[in-house]
Amino acid sequence: MNIEQFIQRLPKAELHMHLEGSLEPEMLFSLAERNGISLRWPSIEALRAAYEFANLEDFLALYFEGCRVFVTEQDFYDVTAAYLTKASEQGVWRAEIFLGPQSFTERGIPLEAIMGGILGAIKDAHSTTGISAGYVVSVHRHRSVEDALQVLDAIAPWAEQVAGIGMGGPEVGYPPGRFRPFYLKAKALGYKTTVHAGEEGPPAYIREALDMLPIDRIDHGVTAHGDEELMDRLAANQMPLTVCPLSNLRLKGFPSLEVHPLKKMLDRGLRVSVHSDDPPYFGGYVNENLLACSKALNLSPEDLAALARNSFLGSFAPPEEIQRAVVAVNHHLDTFWASNQSHRLVGTD
Ligand code: ADE
Ligand code: ZN
Repeated sequence: MNIEQFIQRLPKAELHMHLEGSLEPEMLFSLAERNGISLRWPSIEALRAAYEFANLEDFLALYFEGCRVFVTEQDFYDVTAAYLTKASEQGVWRAEIFLGPQSFTERGIPLEAIMGGILGAIKDAHSTTGISAGYVVSVHRHRSVEDALQVLDAIAPWAEQVAGIGMGGPEVGYPPGRFRPFYLKAKALGYKTTVHAGEEGPPAYIREALDMLPIDRIDHGVTAHGDEELMDRLAANQMPLTVCPLSNLRLKGFPSLEVHPLKKMLDRGLRVSVHSDDPPYFGGYVNENLLACSKALNLSPEDLAALARNSFLGSFAPPEEIQRAVVAVNHHLDTFWASNQSHRLVGTD
């Protein structure tokens, strides 16, 4: 078994991806055509060529523009189904997917269309592929807290089917503490919670999230790497950090993957895992992220298994499901060494 096969067959949880950012350019064009929406790119190739970003805000301008092509329940269904098919093909056992309803409800798209499409596709993907998936309803930090609280009210009819609550959007200038009332309410309602922090924002934003928000995990968290005291705190409380290395690279968080802090954080005992964020925009789904990191950072099979274990341990899946998956990761690692051992024996006979 080579490293590509090891990664492919490794059971994994994808905890950090945005459905809006999972639109392949071909699908973006086909949804635009289906909904009669004109695009400013003359071709799919021209759109793909526009995937050059100076930073997060620069990317988000294109990402929000792409949201215009979602109109009907079928659109939300199709995008979710396409992503879950891809994830399942990559050996993802559990997928927790973000979508921020505010981009759509502000254009008059009914929440019923969003929830019906996403939850319907999650159910059907489970029947056809066996993948376990959940919808993490996300709000935008550049909008008001009142608006975010309204999202919580609006999703109440689907509360039992919602996997968790998150927050994304432009980070610098929008520290997370302002959303304390929103997170307190989400927790009081019984939701699992996560927040984007420490993607571009300083370590102080991560501290603020830890100090002020009742959160079960942090999305990104990579700017903690230079702050030893914060690293100690994140290791001590085993706060899951959903790291997105190709996203960090493409949004210029780090000049190369070789200097990405993933391995340093893993070695320090932090509960880091690897995810894709917005796969077509950043050049890879979860396996491409793992493979790129394994090459750039010289990750061992043990490192990759630790990342996979962490992905399940940080997930919002039921505890029995997490336990089963962790056992499967350990089994996969054992199989890898057993098969490589026998190859070596055959080779030296
Ligand atoms: N929404 C989609 N991708 C995002 C990212 N990388 N950071 C914050 N919000 C996002
Ligand atoms: Zn994200």
